[in-house]
Amino acid sequence: MTDVTYSYAKRTNGMKASVIREILKVSSRPDVISFAGGLPSPQSFPLKEFERAAQDALRIDGTRALQYAVTEGHAGLKKYLCGWLSKQGIEAPPEQMLFTNGSQQALDLLGKIFINPGDKILMEDPTYLGAIQSFNAYQANYITVKMDEDGMLPEELEKRLKANRFRFAYVVPTFHNPAGSTMSLERRKAFLRLAKKYRLLIIEDDPYSFLRFKGTPIPSLYSLAKGKGVVYLSTFSKLLSPGIRLGYALAEKDIIKHLIYAKQAADLQANTLIQYAVYHYCQRGYLEKHVPAIIKDYKHRAGVMLDAIKEYFPPEVHCVEPQGGMFVWCIMPRKVKASDVFQKAIRKNVAFVEGSVFFANGGGENTMRLNFTSSSDRDIERGIKILGQVISSFL
Ligand SMILES: Cc1ncc(COP(=O)(O)O)c(C=O)c1O
Repeated sequence: MTDVTYSYAKRTNGMKASVIREILKVSSRPDVISFAGGLPSPQSFPLKEFERAAQDALRIDGTRALQYAVTEGHAGLKKYLCGWLSKQGIEAPPEQMLFTNGSQQALDLLGKIFINPGDKILMEDPTYLGAIQSFNAYQANYITVKMDEDGMLPEELEKRLKANRFRFAYVVPTFHNPAGSTMSLERRKAFLRLAKKYRLLIIEDDPYSFLRFKGTPIPSLYSLAKGKGVVYLSTFSKLLSPGIRLGYALAEKDIIKHLIYAKQAADLQANTLIQYAVYHYCQRGYLEKHVPAIIKDYKHRAGVMLDAIKEYFPPEVHCVEPQGGMFVWCIMPRKVKASDVFQKAIRKNVAFVEGSVFFANGGGENTMRLNFTSSSDRDIERGIKILGQVISSFL
């Protein structure tokens, strides 16, 4: 043990442990029914197929798959991915794509290349906790815009844009984490008009739009803007496996160039073997087959959770019905504190995430986020029944 007090950089003060990762330590106990993490269903991991793809990488590509490689990323995988994205309505040439260590790293690199201490970032309220964590490290300030089920409220958005100069806006327009909402087409168009008017760069974080189980797809901000003024982030985490840590950014060439410099300084490149293995996985046609299977599974689990909520939650609790993604967002009456509900629920072995952690400037004490993708039908029903009883006890 040492009693030396080290002197850290100012920005280190803003670095805190993720509340969710802390909750995971409790909620990963086998006796706990956890709606807390954002974990994809482990049953959805294509073990056999990925084993074949990894063998292909070692057998066909040999030592190249184990060597250092260019920061820009595996050319064949980029070509495949651009083709696949094009089928989803997202057009980007391979030279405007960069692989990252999950999209979480893209958030960090974007913070690194854009944010000066004290810069203002426009955020949805609530927003993805990992983005707050990334941008905190660069001493960002947040100006937030409230949302309803169609995304940010337009009047509030324009008011904020009039009153502030922003470095960029960070948004999760489709199957929002944590709010479960999807920005409507009309609001997307209005947002892009405002972004043009106020010269606002948009970061569109989109890990979930390929997991739609209800309703009709809405074009991404990136496609609507034809790639101008929008950085698009996505990932293999929810389509294949989060453990492989492979995400990607699409952006204008100048931004990609700066991201490449930042990535070189951070870790040189994405994992070579994983890029080769994912390439073979895609080449074998596995991705195209796998995504519909995940969608089917998540549709089922979301249905089980929503049915259980209807049966067991008191009617005063409003839950947003997601059309895709992994979360149900619940708003309880103001007098009910999610922290009290959590304390009581965890004693009964049920965990969730208190919604307040997703509000960059505080608030949301009566909200909670429930993940439906990593529990069995039986556990979803049992857990929601217990949660319903706990919430009722505070009404
Ligand atoms: C909105 C959002 N962005 C980024 C990430 C990070 O994804 P990755 O595993 O690709 O780093 C997540 C993961 O849950 C997320 O929900």
